Amino acid sequence: MEGVGDRCFRRAIASIGGFDEAVRDFLRVPKNAHVPSLAEQYEAEEITPIPLAAQLMGSDVDLMAAMACEMERRKAPRIDVNCGCPSNTVTGRGAGSSLLKEPDFLYQVVKAVVDAVSIPVTVKMRSGYEDISLFKDNLLAAEASGAHFITLHPRTKVDGYGPPARWDLIAEAKSTLKIPVVGNGDILTVEDALTMLKTTRCDALMIGRGAVINPFLFHEIKAHFSEKALQPSWVDLVRYLELYLAEIPPEVTTRVKVNKLKQLLSFLFKGNALLQERRNAVLTSQHGDPKALLAFAIPLLREGWGQN
Ligand SMILES: Cc1cc2nc3c(=O)[nH]c(=O)nc-3n(C[C@H](O)[C@H](O)[C@H](O)COP(=O)(O)O)c2cc1C
Repeated sequence: MEGVGDRCFRRAIASIGGFDEAVRDFLRVPKNAHVPSLAEQYEAEEITPIPLAAQLMGSDVDLMAAMACEMERRKAPRIDVNCGCPSNTVTGRGAGSSLLKEPDFLYQVVKAVVDAVSIPVTVKMRSGYEDISLFKDNLLAAEASGAHFITLHPRTKVDGYGPPARWDLIAEAKSTLKIPVVGNGDILTVEDALTMLKTTRCDALMIGRGAVINPFLFHEIKAHFSEKALQPSWVDLVRYLELYLAEIPPEVTTRVKVNKLKQLLSFLFKGNALLQERRNAVLTSQHGDPKALLAFAIPLLREGWGQN
């Protein structure tokens, strides 16, 4: 997740684990992209042994193909094509969710990437741009292009993150496509995960914000299916936060570090009503040093953690 799910976050959450694969936030491939230098942002071994897929967002067919080759050379296990980002700075240039306006063009972009590499290529998409009138066409275009599977976030670009994700559309995608469908959107609890699997018959789950709110969510879901699943403890959560801070590059200013930590904490403090009550105290705290902020936040988090 761009802005939240950066390298520091990925490394920290990988220390808790419980998920089978992660996808890096999108690499924007603009029309004037210098492919080799852009590609340096991707590091396949970042969270080894967990595979880290590369996500590309762009609309220049040749550059997307060239970038895909570079990702393969850098040992990406798969390439995900972003057809979902709603940001206007992105859609203005015809990438991200703009691709959903023209299924034929979506096909061309994904096909170019598929043809350029020998690793699996997948598509991350929303249910449409303004509405869902092209939903099925886009699904079929993605499948015809050679995508190995699609991950569906069933909101339109216009929906943003507002209305509830339409899980019925995940079920529809399942009945429309032969390739696997990964369900995404609003999974915050084990119950949500089980309901999505049951009601949509999707092949796998992709979790975004829910994992930032509760980094134990993956293990909690796995525990439902296996007695062998690990049960992370409070100590793991503290280590996760400390690791997150430690992973922020040294050249980053203290002020930015504090802001980054506040952003991560703002998710954790959404976890339940008690935490939400305390959220403001953390976000408005005047601690100028990230370690001091963490020392302030941890006892507040401890009191509310795990409560319903
Ligand atoms: C801050 C933020 C950044 C995101 N960045 C990306 C991204 O880089 N690539 C992507 O495919 N989706 C991105 N998304 C969308 C999520 O992957 C996901 O589809 C969406 O948040 C719904 O799932 P969730 O309810 O599990 O979060 C982002 C979402 C948020 C909130």
